[in-house]
Amino acid sequence: MVSPEVQTSLCSEPLDVSPEAFEEGLARIACEPLFRDAEDGEIEIAGNPFRRPTRLNDHRFIDFFAPLARDQLTSNASLAANRLLLILYELDLVFLPVDGKPEGLESFRSFYGDGIRKAAGALRPVLERFLFGFLDDAVDVTGRWRADDLFAYLAECEEGFAEAKHGDLDAITGCRDPKRAAQAYLIQFAPDFLSEASAMARNTLGSFGPMQSDLFKILIDEYGYGVHASKHSTLFQDALRSVGLVPEVHRYWQFYLPTSFLLTSYFHYISRNHRYFFRYLGALFYTESSLVSTTRAQSRALRQIFGESVDTRYFDEHTHIDAHHGRMSLDGLIHPAVARFGDAVIPEILRGFEEFRLLEDIASQDFVAQIRWADAAADYERAAKALYARIESGELDLPLETFAEVLGERSTTHVHDDDRLLVLETGEMDFWPIYGPPRRYVAGDHMLVPMHRLHGSVVRSGESIYHQPLVPPDLMAETVSRIETQ
Ligand SMILES: [Fe+2]
Ligand SMILES: [Fe+2]
Ligand SMILES: [Fe+2]
Repeated sequence: MVSPEVQTSLCSEPLDVSPEAFEEGLARIACEPLFRDAEDGEIEIAGNPFRRPTRLNDHRFIDFFAPLARDQLTSNASLAANRLLLILYELDLVFLPVDGKPEGLESFRSFYGDGIRKAAGALRPVLERFLFGFLDDAVDVTGRWRADDLFAYLAECEEGFAEAKHGDLDAITGCRDPKRAAQAYLIQFAPDFLSEASAMARNTLGSFGPMQSDLFKILIDEYGYGVHASKHSTLFQDALRSVGLVPEVHRYWQFYLPTSFLLTSYFHYISRNHRYFFRYLGALFYTESSLVSTTRAQSRALRQIFGESVDTRYFDEHTHIDAHHGRMSLDGLIHPAVARFGDAVIPEILRGFEEFRLLEDIASQDFVAQIRWADAAADYERAAKALYARIESGELDLPLETFAEVLGERSTTHVHDDDRLLVLETGEMDFWPIYGPPRRYVAGDHMLVPMHRLHGSVVRSGESIYHQPLVPPDLMAETVSRIETQ
């Protein structure tokens, strides 16, 4: 059997942060203007990679010391924690103000200031446990694994990737507005791909023999061998530009789903904490080897949606190079690791492989749910109107929550942990269920906002008064199923 000390379980590791220290860290974040709620002109964050709105008021209602369960990864607490955690990881990455904006130097200095770095020391371990703690139980790597079993299993999985279904791409191409859904899809990758392989770079320092040089070879491919036009993040910028998006770092911060943050942060989490180095090897092999067929399907779907105008070189390059990277991570990293350290490291390698696979699956489901709702917004508005009529007639007795917001009032994008009806009584409001032109609601308009669906709004005229009755789960399920079978 594998000796127990090599199996690390996040939630059983001691957490050396007091609630007071954590609170102090949150307070430092709250003092930093870069992380305040979004202004009404900040649906897109133009020209400042350091500006990352969070909903500061939400933080005090969240128990960050109680790890989230799997079904809470799409919750508002997850979104809040994910926004914070990526900020903290990115303190180690270099970003510069946008060209021609010297005033951005002030944000640059604040972002990399000592105060936030100090806060990170207390916040990061708690947030990691909060978000990734569920993986302890969600992934099971117990049992007797020998090297042969591991390599047979990985080979079998790799073969399976060629046949993999891509439910998210099918959902996009099946949308009434596939272009908008495809833009939303690319936006979900932006936090990772615009600074691609930064987490990998964390693993290339130090001294660990020939494995280090093999990892470095993959890294320099990701960085285009120093040719900026070939750097993978540059290719991704070109892809964004070709579909009408602006390739600035975190321009679309407000539209990242919590589970998209999770995918980016997972690699930082296992790469910043070097005790998870073997886990990283498994996750690396998973991502490199699965991307061969995934990027082929992505390229095909994008061409189907946008025609000749889309620049698919980012995806085409990965279909080619990741076949090599998969091989390199297996032969140059996983084989030598097992040869050098024996079966003891196998559970960790497997854990990384399975954890990232699971997170991708969760993120894919979250994304599909988001675009299905956004794509059917008109149907949800009609269903909302019908439901509200039943409330007004007295047939349904649902408590109304009433809000009043004035012109320009904005809400940083968020999710609710229950199903809600949005009923606008006075004023006008722009509403975003997805990135792109908003839906304009006027008095008498309604929208049904399902639990955990990301949205934002800005009041556009006078004072808006609106209600948000909560919709009981059975009534919501019945309503959604009627919409989906239309
Ligand atoms: Fe890459
Ligand atoms: Fe790669
Ligand atoms: Fe809301």
